[in-house]
Amino acid sequence: MNNTNYPKNTENNAVPQQPAQTAPVRQNLANRQPTGQTGTPRPTTQTAQQRRPLTNEERRRMEAARQAALRGTAAGTSVSAQATRPANAPARPTGTPAQRPAGTPTQRPTGTPAPRTTSHRPAASPAPRQNVSHPRPVSQTENIPVTTYTPPQRQYTPDGEYVRDYQNNEPARNNMTPKKKKRVRIPWGIIVFILLIGAVVFFAGKHILENPTEPRDDDPEIVETGDTDDIVTPPETDDTEETDAPETDAPVVNPYGYAVNKSNTELDVGNLILVNYEHPYARVDSVFLMNVRANKGSDLQVSAMDDALAPDAFHALDKMTAELRGTGCGDWLLLTSGYRDVAEQQAIWDKNLAQSGEEYTKMYVAEPGNSEHHTGLAADLAFFTYSYASIPVADHEYRTWLWDNCADYGFILRYEADKTDITHIAYEAWHFRYVGVPHAYAITALDMCLEEYIEYIKKYSATADMLHIKPDGTIADINVVNAKDITEGWVTYYVPMTEGETTEIIIPFSEADFDCEISGNNADGFIVTVTPKSVN
Ligand code: DAL
Ligand code: ZN
Repeated sequence: MNNTNYPKNTENNAVPQQPAQTAPVRQNLANRQPTGQTGTPRPTTQTAQQRRPLTNEERRRMEAARQAALRGTAAGTSVSAQATRPANAPARPTGTPAQRPAGTPTQRPTGTPAPRTTSHRPAASPAPRQNVSHPRPVSQTENIPVTTYTPPQRQYTPDGEYVRDYQNNEPARNNMTPKKKKRVRIPWGIIVFILLIGAVVFFAGKHILENPTEPRDDDPEIVETGDTDDIVTPPETDDTEETDAPETDAPVVNPYGYAVNKSNTELDVGNLILVNYEHPYARVDSVFLMNVRANKGSDLQVSAMDDALAPDAFHALDKMTAELRGTGCGDWLLLTSGYRDVAEQQAIWDKNLAQSGEEYTKMYVAEPGNSEHHTGLAADLAFFTYSYASIPVADHEYRTWLWDNCADYGFILRYEADKTDITHIAYEAWHFRYVGVPHAYAITALDMCLEEYIEYIKKYSATADMLHIKPDGTIADINVVNAKDITEGWVTYYVPMTEGETTEIIIPFSEADFDCEISGNNADGFIVTVTPKSVN
């Protein structure tokens, strides 16, 4: 073949070589040769009109040579290069060297970068240029008219970063230069709008919670009755009946009263506890007491430094003594004996037993553990003269005043002469027992001893008749329906203790309008005393 454009390859004619100064042709990437040696700009002086089209035979031979060159150059090194060989390409002639001889231009010079395919091109920096010419296979694309190709003029930073395409005078736009991050625009308008909506919803909900709507007609009524344990609910009414009761802003008070659960352990607590030969007192060592001398007024005298009384009894005695002196009595009252513990009662018992015998002692001294003096509610009194003489109550001119007026201070003469068969104690003109004003009035009015009164009051209950004790000391029965309307005095009734830990005590009075006091009887139940507030 006579081809003057291509000099003979003295080493291997099967591999045509491209003249060193031939114009580069645009190649598609699939057929592109390794580009390690194509770094410098290529001249663009030759045009397609200066070239002769190849004959078919030349093309066949060149294609065969190209395929042979590809097999020899890229075998075992590039899968993509092998894939470019046409399926119908003629087989390599027997004896054709599968590998280029040493020193052929296609062999990578020692020290030069390894040949690369396009897809393996490093992104950091271009391959170093080589000033040697290398043969390349001719491809079908060489029939394409040659166009002028000017490689981009690129500038790199010292570390290889591509910064600008001077040919297009544009900043670099490839993966070699990190793209400038697009600024994210924050939708402040939308955010502010959402916050405003949230604030409106929040404050609207808060307003609704703090200002509930009026209850519906079918809502259950809640009745405030105070700090009671149980609520006595009003009887149900016929829902079909319309009530004409006017609305009022007055506080809601349950007119039917309330109930409390009283611990049964408090059966022996209160001013009405019965302590006698049948009913010992178990709290003797835990009574709350007041030292009389340390707290008394100037009209009350004591026989011992440690004389003590329960608070209610002390205050009543102190007041009674002062008013006695106010009537013109020139002597003082003397507390000869107040609270006693069991040991002291035992000493008195033993002394009387030794001095006066058993019969006398049993008449005048309660057995240790069964004395009212254990409660702090009993006071043995005498008159005390300016000359330091102690005068028994029965012998003093003011004895009647004391007997007749002690109820005004809550005292009763505990052991009357005509009650000895009940009390089992002989008449004691000096032994006063505090029971509280209303019950002292009632006991006096009924002419009963405490034992009788404790039994008598059991006829009154929370659901029927009650005992109305008036401020003047008179008494009357009163039905529960009317009892809640009293405007003065006291109403009292009995509630038997029930089995278990507590006893439910019904109090059919308005807690807002009545004070209530509950006392155990130290026997079998509780006595309730109710009085209008701020009246007595
Ligand atoms: N003097 C009375 C009965 C008592 O000893 O308790
Ligand atoms: Zn006494």
